[in-house]
Amino acid sequence: MNPLNHVAIIMDGNGRWGLKNKNSRNAGHKAGLVTVEKIIKASIKRKIKFLTLYAFSTENWKRPKKEVNYLFTLLENFLTKKLNNLNNQNIKLNILGNKKFSKKLNNLLNKAEKITFNNKNLQVNLALNYGSKLELIDALKKLNKSKKKINEKNLSGYLQTKNIPDPELLIRTGNTKRLSNFLLWQLAYSEIFFIKKLWPDFSEEDFYKIIKQYKSVKRTFGNVI
Ligand code: IPE
Ligand code: IPE
Ligand code: MG
Repeated sequence: MNPLNHVAIIMDGNGRWGLKNKNSRNAGHKAGLVTVEKIIKASIKRKIKFLTLYAFSTENWKRPKKEVNYLFTLLENFLTKKLNNLNNQNIKLNILGNKKFSKKLNNLLNKAEKITFNNKNLQVNLALNYGSKLELIDALKKLNKSKKKINEKNLSGYLQTKNIPDPELLIRTGNTKRLSNFLLWQLAYSEIFFIKKLWPDFSEEDFYKIIKQYKSVKRTFGNVI
């Protein structure tokens, strides 16, 4: 059975779910947050150590201002309301991406990271204003400046995911088969599951089913068995 320490998820399909069910894309984002909470709990149940959630890409700034603002307000409210609860569940919150948000949200994110820093149950990496190409360029610049040898280990050490093992499993909901600038380096050998369901419809059972399937995949890493 394959070990599973790190699951990464591209939580796609909120907008379409919202339009279909409530005639509003933003309603889909709100519903998507409920799924986030469910999948965090399910990850703890399955003893997963790292859960990385793609919440906002560097490309998502192209969206209408009303939607972008709604997303960040949703996150602000969530953190204000749920930070203590996350902390009590021994969850560590870590932000991937550049924190270039309102002062209020930046402060909240920093506070959440600080308070939960030593928690050990599950590390939730929230990718916010994250883009893999930008991450790689920043890492290469730092590596170049350091004068260290250019190799895999040294480059990985300058990524925002340093100290985090690569995801063994990537799930993308929303019936789209692409990576959308997410963890391009780190996903080099991940098992990828593209799921038709929209993110708000994704359930614990769907998650457990994928994990079960993943566990029995023959992972060869270029070798022959
Ligand atoms: C993903 O859902 C969530 C974010 C990008 C914030 P979408 O908003 O992309 O949903 P669809 O793909 O438009 O349905
Ligand atoms: C990817 O979804 C980003 C997040 C889930 C946060 P998008 O809906 O933005 O990606 P594209 O536009 O389908 O590539
Ligand atoms: Mg989408």
